[in-house]
Amino acid sequence: MTDENVSRSPRTVAVTAGRPQNENDPLNASIVLASNFQSTGDYARTHGTSTWAALETAVGELEGGQCLSFATGMAAASAILFALNPSVVVVPSVSYLGVRALLGDMQDHGHVRVVSVDIVDTDAVTKAMNEASAQVGAERVVLWIETPTNPTLDEAELEKLCIAANAINVRTVVDSTFASPIGQQPLTLGASVVMHSGTKFIGGHSDLMIGLTLTNQQDIFEKLSRARVVQGATPGALESFLALRGLRTLPLRYEAASKNADEICRRLKAHTAIEWAKNVGPMLSYIVKGGAQAADKVCASTLMIITATSLGGVETTMERRQKYAGDAHVNPGLIRMSVGIEDVEDIWSDLEKALAS
Ligand SMILES: Cc1ncc(COP(=O)(O)O)c(C=O)c1O
Repeated sequence: MTDENVSRSPRTVAVTAGRPQNENDPLNASIVLASNFQSTGDYARTHGTSTWAALETAVGELEGGQCLSFATGMAAASAILFALNPSVVVVPSVSYLGVRALLGDMQDHGHVRVVSVDIVDTDAVTKAMNEASAQVGAERVVLWIETPTNPTLDEAELEKLCIAANAINVRTVVDSTFASPIGQQPLTLGASVVMHSGTKFIGGHSDLMIGLTLTNQQDIFEKLSRARVVQGATPGALESFLALRGLRTLPLRYEAASKNADEICRRLKAHTAIEWAKNVGPMLSYIVKGGAQAADKVCASTLMIITATSLGGVETTMERRQKYAGDAHVNPGLIRMSVGIEDVEDIWSDLEKALAS
């Protein structure tokens, strides 16, 4: 049972939150396979289901806000932009290509103007927010912060940016996918909305797609709920169940993978084939000397580490990012690695042999 008077650690919240509460209930939330509910007139897309609610309660408790689940991370991003209805979005120039593609299309359709910024340059971001606010009014401006960024792992000064935005009533959205609810809790720093691709660390097993939004502002929560109803990008029942099951071990997985990534990064920095390496938690990016060809060779030469595009699973995956049109501006030799929870010596042995190739 959740005792709201006790402040518990994230490990405990991850295990206990969102469980059924009544006597003789099953221990875990059930997979509710229903679109329609008897007598009440409830309909899943409009009213939600108890499977979604269990996941939303648990993620909400970890982040300190009210949570809604969506079909994918991109569905969550779309719902946020629909709900906040900005006319200008200030966005990191190097960040997840999917969100930048969505914003690019919205701009092409005349719905928004996109202002790209270097998200680590707090003064430049503040200036861009101020200029946009002076032009269209602060209530029509959204600052979209992704931190750490995909794929270069840039880290924004999150608290400073939230303070600067709140001072002029600009709403902030934080894509916290790479940090997960364990690495940072942006709502506690003043963010208006947080989003996660739950497909990544929250699910944690590369077997589902789901998205999550969080806010502690009631008016924004209502707008996000409305966006889910009218856009219809609801999560699947099995996906919600699996995401909650994944969440139960998120703190342990995130800690173990971060420890592995710290060690792999330390060794990469000392390796003669490596130009640059950085990790934030389990996410690690490194640049191989010799550009695209050398980096492709490394990816093709591992035996255990999987070349794959997604991230945040128990297994170590990696890929060269500049091959995608949306990441064309990234260093050609940059490999983004999502470090898993295998034995660190096995990860290193595989990578070291691939680097020697
Ligand atoms: C930072 C970030 N945000 C959002 C998304 C989109 O999530 P999804 O693939 O679940 O739609 C991704 C996917 O890679 C991501 O890396």
